[in-house]
Amino acid sequence: MQSRSLTIEDGKDPSALPKAPQSRVFPLRILQFFGLFLILGLGISVLSMFMIRYGGVQNVVSTVRSEFQPCLEEPGVLERWIKPPSNLMHSMTDKELFWRASFAPQINEYPFTRVPKIAFMFLTRGPLPLSPLWEKFLKGHEGLYSIYIHSLPSYEAKFPPSSVFYRRQIPSQVSEWGRMSMCDAERRLLANALLDISNEMFVLVSESCIPVFNFSIVYDYLSSSRFSFIGAFDDPGPYGRGRYNENMAPEVDITQWRKGSQWFEVNRRLAIHIVEDTIFHSKFEEFCKPACYVDEHYFPTMLTIQAPHLLANRSLTWVDWSRGGAHPATFGKADITEDFLKRILEDHNCLYNNEPSTVCFLFARKFAPSALEPLLQLAPKFFGY
Ligand SMILES: *[C@@H]1O[C@H](CO)[C@@H](O)[C@H](O)[C@H]1NC(C)=O
Ligand SMILES: *[C@@H]1O[C@H](CO)[C@@H](O)[C@H](O)[C@H]1NC(C)=O
Repeated sequence: MQSRSLTIEDGKDPSALPKAPQSRVFPLRILQFFGLFLILGLGISVLSMFMIRYGGVQNVVSTVRSEFQPCLEEPGVLERWIKPPSNLMHSMTDKELFWRASFAPQINEYPFTRVPKIAFMFLTRGPLPLSPLWEKFLKGHEGLYSIYIHSLPSYEAKFPPSSVFYRRQIPSQVSEWGRMSMCDAERRLLANALLDISNEMFVLVSESCIPVFNFSIVYDYLSSSRFSFIGAFDDPGPYGRGRYNENMAPEVDITQWRKGSQWFEVNRRLAIHIVEDTIFHSKFEEFCKPACYVDEHYFPTMLTIQAPHLLANRSLTWVDWSRGGAHPATFGKADITEDFLKRILEDHNCLYNNEPSTVCFLFARKFAPSALEPLLQLAPKFFGY
């Protein structure tokens, strides 16, 4: 009280009080006053440091009263990086998404138990008429796969909560066959799937694709392979090298130009290569327009340049071009016979990990919705699920 009134008076009219005694009393009291504050402040900050460290900010009172408790409310920081996003819908632009998805650890060994998963990425227009077959295939293998669906933005999926396809749609945009928008949709699928650090094998499928082996075989085949399954061959004809544009040099030389089916399987490293690419994307966007079908050339060529030693140079998806024309054959109800399924499964020869193998295709297309019933019936006998 005294020091306060003294200061005010002092400020107002310094000549009103005798000078000599004031100058001695004033600094001493101020000093005591500040000293008290200093000790108080120090005490409070030490106490709050303890409370933040051991109690969490919310339980200040209870912590002071009772013993210090270990904090249980804050989730482990590592867990935030391991846990996949609970909601696949987000508001990131492609630019933001691709940037985020390109993050990769630089230490190869994971400091936790990581079970590699297969990301099945469905590139569709809308409904998935063969979904009951996929549900059957995936049943009992939870934790070893994840699902992502890119459909027309206008399509509203109506899967029940019990379905493996429930709320697995990603933010999508219109994509056209043979155009860069198709490759962008595939990159969007890869980028969203990359956000789950457990996804290791990335399989692109369509609504007309089916698995032709059971899950255990598919999982072992993919996880034990030293190569990624992307079709990539050098076609000297008009539909191969004939589509090459010299403006793509020097980034792409004609000897590196590849062609392959759109339906691929890539590992995490190649998925990141595809998502982070800015060099080849602009070249292909500008110089590979119909009759250059960019979805047949962009990834096979780009990966042949960047990581040829990781490519099997063949696709895992069986398809029938024998009927001729611009599109492969579509099979409906009447086509699904025992002989036909044998044709899909048998008489194949290929290399698997540099060894000859007769198991060359894990998936097949194209199947019409009417094929579902007979396929469901024959799947246990022929596909093992
Ligand atoms: C998958 O198929 C193989 C070969 O047909 C069989 O040996 C295996 O038991 C099947 N696995 C499951 C989980 O059904
Ligand atoms: C795939 O093709 C590339 C060249 O385009 C080659 O370097 C690589 O060894 C091939 N992969 C296999 C498994 O033969």
